[in-house]
Amino acid sequence: MHKRETWASKIGLVFAAAGNAIGLGNILRFPSKVALYGGGAFIIPYFISLIVLGIPLMILEWVIGRYAGSKGHGSMAGIMGEFFNQSSLARAVGSLGVTIPFLIVCYYIYIESWTLGFAILSIFHKMPHPVHSSDPQLAMMPFLDFYRNYTRPCLWAIVFLIITLCINAYLLYKGVVKGIEFTAKIGIPLLFLMGIILSIVSLSLNHWKGLEGLCFIFKPNFNKLLNPQVWVEAAGQIFFTLSLAMGAIATYASYVKENEDVLKIGLYTAGLNEFVEIVIGGSIAIPAAFAIFGASSIPTLANEGTFRLGFISMPAILMSLPFGWFLSFIWFFLLFIAALTSSLALTQPLIALFEDEMKWSHNKAVSIAVLMVSLGAFLSAFIPEFLDELDFWAGTLFLIIFGFIEIFAFVWLFGVDSFHKELNKNAFLRIPKIFVYIFYSLSLIFIGVLFYFWAIVKFPQYFSHMSWNLIVARIFIVVCVLLLAIASIRSKKFLN
Ligand code: ALA
Repeated sequence: MHKRETWASKIGLVFAAAGNAIGLGNILRFPSKVALYGGGAFIIPYFISLIVLGIPLMILEWVIGRYAGSKGHGSMAGIMGEFFNQSSLARAVGSLGVTIPFLIVCYYIYIESWTLGFAILSIFHKMPHPVHSSDPQLAMMPFLDFYRNYTRPCLWAIVFLIITLCINAYLLYKGVVKGIEFTAKIGIPLLFLMGIILSIVSLSLNHWKGLEGLCFIFKPNFNKLLNPQVWVEAAGQIFFTLSLAMGAIATYASYVKENEDVLKIGLYTAGLNEFVEIVIGGSIAIPAAFAIFGASSIPTLANEGTFRLGFISMPAILMSLPFGWFLSFIWFFLLFIAALTSSLALTQPLIALFEDEMKWSHNKAVSIAVLMVSLGAFLSAFIPEFLDELDFWAGTLFLIIFGFIEIFAFVWLFGVDSFHKELNKNAFLRIPKIFVYIFYSLSLIFIGVLFYFWAIVKFPQYFSHMSWNLIVARIFIVVCVLLLAIASIRSKKFLN
């Protein structure tokens, strides 16, 4: 058996875990969802989902990851196998926890490359300068369309995609400690610093009018609470932002030392992620748009998609300020660092599958994983709707399904007593067994209801439209699901 790495230091582990969760979801997706679903109306289901679903699932993934890691398994296929006698069914079901992060990283890394591209273009004063236009956003709109043109992506988009893939590949070759942990130790403090600078800039815009934008998010509004779509989106955001039901957290957990207090690490991960999401993510894009374009613009902007606030409104606002190019650079570099630490985490489950289950060398595992991600990223760049299609399935529906499977399998099927024993091992706090019963029944019921809402809200919207691009994306998804399931089953022969 090859020697598995373990995190080198406690602080490195905490930062790596935070980097895994903190990503584009916090700084780009969260403000867009909040704006779209009405500020304070979104935040109530959001916090309920965090407590009922987010924290229990986060702790669960740390617990199972530590357990299986000590037995030499880091991918969800191996983890699920370890808990259920290495049966083929368990490994095949678990392989979804490798396919999901892989499908997500295929489009995620393409968006990550835009953030790097826009950061560098800001430094070289190549971003459109909007001060002469009546609406500062007008100049940015064609720029984004030009940059991400699907039929003919601009040369910059391709160059920055290749650079982003190379950066990821380099860090993954370096491994868990010298690559991932090292990046997080530098990246996370930098991310906090840049986030705080931009929060201050945004809140102070237009004589501190940005502060009113902050109130828009936090002023409770009970009007939309009966709308199932708000619940589906809020819970979906919790899954995505905390990287839950993606297998990525459990894979990081598999590299902890056997005596690590994973309860504490799980709580730190959720706490740091929520700090960045609410305090930093919440106080940049929405307050800035609120201060400059007014309250009524917020839902309209958000309605135009996740990228509107981040890639059009924000640079337009920042570029019209003194040292706009520098502020625009900080904004996009902040997004890039957040995305980089997450894309490493989303690729690692695939590497763990190749190394731990298929017994490939580290270099071979990373090479094949990066080639696969590159294929998906280029398809995202060249095929319209590919990105949205992957996000629809892997970034939302599969998370709900796999979240359900995780709780059902690791708590209820494995047994509450055994799970409770694992949970309390080395924990700073003894969790009474009744809490396991309460929280993991509630979360299971909650996901069941979500799935029902999701089906009635999303399916009708979804099947109203069909195109060749969508068919290609769906074939890609099915092939990946099947291939990784087969690889997970066949690699049983390498078990000692
Ligand atoms: N959790 C990661 C994010 O928020 C995937 O972007």
